[in-house]
Amino acid sequence: MSTEKVVVSNYQEMAARAAEIVLQRMQEKPKLVLGLATGSTPLGLYERLVESYKMGKTDFSQVTTFNLDEYCGLAKNHPQSYRYFMDKYLFSGVNIDYRRVHFPSEVEDGDEYEQKIMEAGGIDLQILGIGRNGHIGFNEPGSDFKSRTRVVDLTEMTIKDNARFFTQPAEVPRQAVTMGLATIMDAKEILLLVSGSGKAAVMERLMMKKPSVDVPASVLHSHTKTTIIVDKKADGGQRDLPSSL
Ligand code: PGA
Repeated sequence: MSTEKVVVSNYQEMAARAAEIVLQRMQEKPKLVLGLATGSTPLGLYERLVESYKMGKTDFSQVTTFNLDEYCGLAKNHPQSYRYFMDKYLFSGVNIDYRRVHFPSEVEDGDEYEQKIMEAGGIDLQILGIGRNGHIGFNEPGSDFKSRTRVVDLTEMTIKDNARFFTQPAEVPRQAVTMGLATIMDAKEILLLVSGSGKAAVMERLMMKKPSVDVPASVLHSHTKTTIIVDKKADGGQRDLPSSL
């Protein structure tokens, strides 16, 4: 298997190790092409990247980013959009050139997103979180390992779970656009971050090492350079996210 698992003591250490890797890659290649994820898991990483920029230690001016996924039909500045999340937790805190920021919802279709990624030279480093059901991006169980950027229907459970974030039921997105599993696998390097006991069951299924569409993240076992940074609780224990998350 070509995935390496690094077990760290807690969420903060996971974030610090991830930041070390990202900052090192940025130093090696100022024009780094980064694949980015949303969710609570990468927040500590983004916090550290902003901190490093504020201390004058890093420069995002030539970095290109491609986000993994986005809801369909939400305005860029909607507080539930992933674009808003990225602006809030990373982009507004660093000197990124917004012309080099990409979201799959901001192009005509999936093919155009794939084209843009190719034109940028491909993704050098993709950051990923994992869902409790093994999803990466919006590639839910059953997603084809050959899938590429596309629009997907959200499950009824996701739609229901999201309803509390919206004032009107009609506002709740029913579809999202996501990089496919094959798109993710094209990244030269992948960093999968996993924290907390809530992820322990899926981690166990993932580490059974049998690629299966039931656990979409298991596709990563055939990737050439994937590092899984997992804290002790996700590796079998209790959730340890900062209380602010
Ligand atoms: P989380 O979400 O980082 O908020 O746990 C991960 C995911 O569902 O992909």
